[in-house]
Amino acid sequence: MSGRRSARSGRGATGSPPAEHGPARTPAGQDTTIVLTQPSAGGPAVPGPAAADAPHIHPTAIIESGVTIGPQTAIGDGVHVRGPSGIGRECIIGEKTHIADDVRIADGVRINTHVHICSGVTIESSVMIAAGVIFTNERYPRAADYPGEATPSTPTPEALKTVVRIGATIGAGALIGPGIDIGPWAMIGMGAVVTRDVVPHALMIGAPARVAGWVCVCGTPLGGAAVAAPALCKRCGRGYRVVYGPRGRILSPLEGDP
Ligand SMILES: CC(C)(COP(=O)(O)OP(=O)(O)OC[C@H]1O[C@@H](n2cnc3c(N)ncnc32)[C@H](O)[C@@H]1OP(=O)(O)O)[C@@H](O)C(=O)NCCC(=O)NCCS
Ligand SMILES: [Zn+2]
Repeated sequence: MSGRRSARSGRGATGSPPAEHGPARTPAGQDTTIVLTQPSAGGPAVPGPAAADAPHIHPTAIIESGVTIGPQTAIGDGVHVRGPSGIGRECIIGEKTHIADDVRIADGVRINTHVHICSGVTIESSVMIAAGVIFTNERYPRAADYPGEATPSTPTPEALKTVVRIGATIGAGALIGPGIDIGPWAMIGMGAVVTRDVVPHALMIGAPARVAGWVCVCGTPLGGAAVAAPALCKRCGRGYRVVYGPRGRILSPLEGDP
């Protein structure tokens, strides 16, 4: 099916922020543990990545112990990654982004500047997260446990898990509520407040975010929320059908993603 699509080679590797070689700065008393990840399960067994494959980490980034970073990933100025967390290969982590502990980021993920990713977030491959996106994980947070002591900064048992599935895009300044599942290839508009799970390929806007339309794998709009007939992407030719399921009416790809 690739013959009818425009090529998007090098995704995740182009447009990277300036990255510099050099040692990562670590909090006092902590070791830097950068573990180059190996090819995912099922891939060929190969020796460890060559130096040219090493992640590019800006000298001002803080990478805590227990963090794993895959080959050819670029970590920008002032990024802070708390451990344990994992970042895959060929990712771009934009400057001043904060990644908490217990965050899992797969391969080819592009994160712009000033993004806050809290504990318990999983980001699947080829996801794009634009500038200023904020994730949350507690619904009714308090600074202290009344009556009692201040709550620890580590996640409480009430902290909820969020997953952003393959290929999804989250627009600038969007707020992602606790415990949200954002479906594959969904597109969240800038400034949206996402309070409910998002179905695959949905275009979501507003506060609270609602389905405003449907978007192809390639990012092209497929029609408004009320599209009634099967859709064909004008740009890449992928076909979609209307499906009725437990989560309502959705557009589903004819041939499977991507
Ligand atoms: C949601 C989005 C995909 C819609 O794009 P679009 O289909 O071209 O929409 P239009 O600009 O034609 O706007 C259609 C309507 O939706 C409104 N609208 C557009 N984006 C909106 C948003 N994010 N939230 C609320 N309303 C929005 C417009 O005001 C317009 O309403 P109107 O007809 O009453 O004036 C786009 O606006 C967006 O948010 N993209 C993400 C941008 C981003 O964050 N990029 C990050 C990397 S630079
Ligand atoms: Zn398309």
